[in-house]
Amino acid sequence: MSDSNQIDETAQSSVIGDSAFTGKVAPGVEAVRAQGGQRAFFSVWDLHAYYGESYIVQGVSFDIREGEIVALLGRNGAGKTSTLRALARVDSPELRHGEIWLDHQPLHEMSAYQAAQNGLGLVPEDRRIIQGLSVEENLQLAQIAPPKGWSIERVYELFPRLGERRNQEGVTLSGGEQQMLAVARALVRDMKLLLLDEPYEGLAPVIVQEIEKTLEQIKALGMTTIIVEQNAVAALHLADRALILDMGKIVFDGTAQEVLENEDLRHEYLAI
Ligand SMILES: Nc1ncnc2c1ncn2[C@@H]1O[C@H](COP(=O)(O)OP(=O)(O)O)[C@@H](O)[C@H]1O
Ligand SMILES: [Mg+2]
Repeated sequence: MSDSNQIDETAQSSVIGDSAFTGKVAPGVEAVRAQGGQRAFFSVWDLHAYYGESYIVQGVSFDIREGEIVALLGRNGAGKTSTLRALARVDSPELRHGEIWLDHQPLHEMSAYQAAQNGLGLVPEDRRIIQGLSVEENLQLAQIAPPKGWSIERVYELFPRLGERRNQEGVTLSGGEQQMLAVARALVRDMKLLLLDEPYEGLAPVIVQEIEKTLEQIKALGMTTIIVEQNAVAALHLADRALILDMGKIVFDGTAQEVLENEDLRHEYLAI
């Protein structure tokens, strides 16, 4: 490629850490732009992240188009949560190398707070409902931080059950309702990218179906989403694409349909 030098320069100026990890050069935003109309909305390049000396995320790269729902799958301990946490720029695991671009913004150069301000919304496994606050106060608190997204009334239209329980203390909600509240907190903050860590965890099948319906509605709104799930089948029905992580590396990147149809792949990496 004639413009490869230019791409190298871009990478050198923005990548975190040295390039000793893989020898591969990050494409950087210039390269992403050079792909023309198919520019990725969210682009992750060669992420390496550690808990102390424990090397967990071992060179993860992928692209997501705007509006896509991607299931990030893999066995327990594969590194799914660690990958989401590295993307959200929280301190642990420590991101030592890689690039993360969301809608042209270099998240790898940002703090967790800045990444959130630039449209990244992580809904963690524990859902982070704030104790002592009502449903509505939980939403109001999320809404304080810029950029401001949906109105609380609009959230109640999507989640009538939250509207009915607006004055109830958030932590007294059922698991399914708490999951709705966790997603709602992201919507009032105008997310560009929603990261959901095991949204179905601990929920009864009938509640899983209810959350699935809500996520379908969010999908119809064009929200770009990464969903991490042990319940791979449920996630694959929702998702357009799937990534499979094994021992901190991406071992499959393709359509959700391919994973549903490929029994060997499912046996090897998903135990289903
Ligand atoms: N805070 C931590 N400190 C050290 N190791 C951790 C920490 N959190 C997770 N790990 C390790 O990182 C690996 C990946 O964990 P995790 O990202 O939680 O996997 P998954 O979400 O796919 O189940 C596991 O081996 C786990 O023991
Ligand atoms: Mg996890």
